[in-house]
Amino acid sequence: MNNVKGKVVVITGASSGIGEETASLLAENGAKLVLGARRIDKLEEIQQKIGDNVSIQKTDVTNAEDVNTLIETAYNDFGRVDVLINNAGLMPQSFLDKNKQDEWNQMIDVNIKGVLYGIGAALPYMRKQNSGHIINLASVAGHAVFPGSAVYSGTKYAVRAITEGLRQEEATVGSKIRTTILSPGAIDTELTDHISDKEIKKGVDELYEDAIKPDAIARAISYAINEPENASVNEFIIRPSNQIL
Ligand SMILES: NC(=O)c1ccc[n+]([C@@H]2O[C@H](COP(=O)([O-])OP(=O)(O)OC[C@H]3O[C@@H](n4cnc5c(N)ncnc54)[C@H](OP(=O)(O)O)[C@@H]3O)[C@@H](O)[C@H]2O)c1
Repeated sequence: MNNVKGKVVVITGASSGIGEETASLLAENGAKLVLGARRIDKLEEIQQKIGDNVSIQKTDVTNAEDVNTLIETAYNDFGRVDVLINNAGLMPQSFLDKNKQDEWNQMIDVNIKGVLYGIGAALPYMRKQNSGHIINLASVAGHAVFPGSAVYSGTKYAVRAITEGLRQEEATVGSKIRTTILSPGAIDTELTDHISDKEIKKGVDELYEDAIKPDAIARAISYAINEPENASVNEFIIRPSNQIL
């Protein structure tokens, strides 16, 4: 069975890490892709590498209009919106007493509002099709809080609450729209590069010495999409096997 083949999949934050790796794997499995991120040069490189059936769109997920345009691109180029992967995210962790308000706002805008804008933009298309799949990237930090993770964890707990709310609402109206929450542990990507709090960075770098590659996440996403339409794979937690929390 290949329930990925031919599906139109939109990925936010597709210019690196988990988004990029997922795009490559889904393309191998025959999906049509619409990739969004702010770094259009990186998206162009990925488009060239993947080849046919890939559209790219410069997208800042903190701007609802950008996100609407990304979803419209999928519909205009491929006639459907089968899957939205709300993957764009930031993790500038810090201790609360550092009062890094700009970073708090960035995380709230990208990690929470970006996901909501994606849902808001994609849902009307999926409701009309009476099918669709929204996959949201949470984190192990959306299951537990650590010193320094308060705001990041807050955003990822919110992603899990929003996704579960979406699941229940869609089940209630019988729309057949599926939802998946994906919570990674330490994955080797650019995510930790933007931590400005030096005390936190040291601890995170130690944790990430054992980080696993993003292909583990890409395979889980592909599995969830590939399941039959009446099976909604609602949640994954994927960590390095020796990560304690
Ligand atoms: N790596 C981990 O250990 C880990 C663990 C748990 C959860 N996660 C989650 O996994 C997701 C992917 O992260 P990653 O690990 O792959 O990190 P990454 O390599 O840093 O990728 C993050 C992506 O988000 C995009 N992005 C950031 N701000 C954006 C904005 N305003 N608008 C649009 N795109 C934006 C970036 O693209 P541009 O800069 O080009 O816009 C980039 O492509 C995130 O939601 C993250 O929280 C990762």
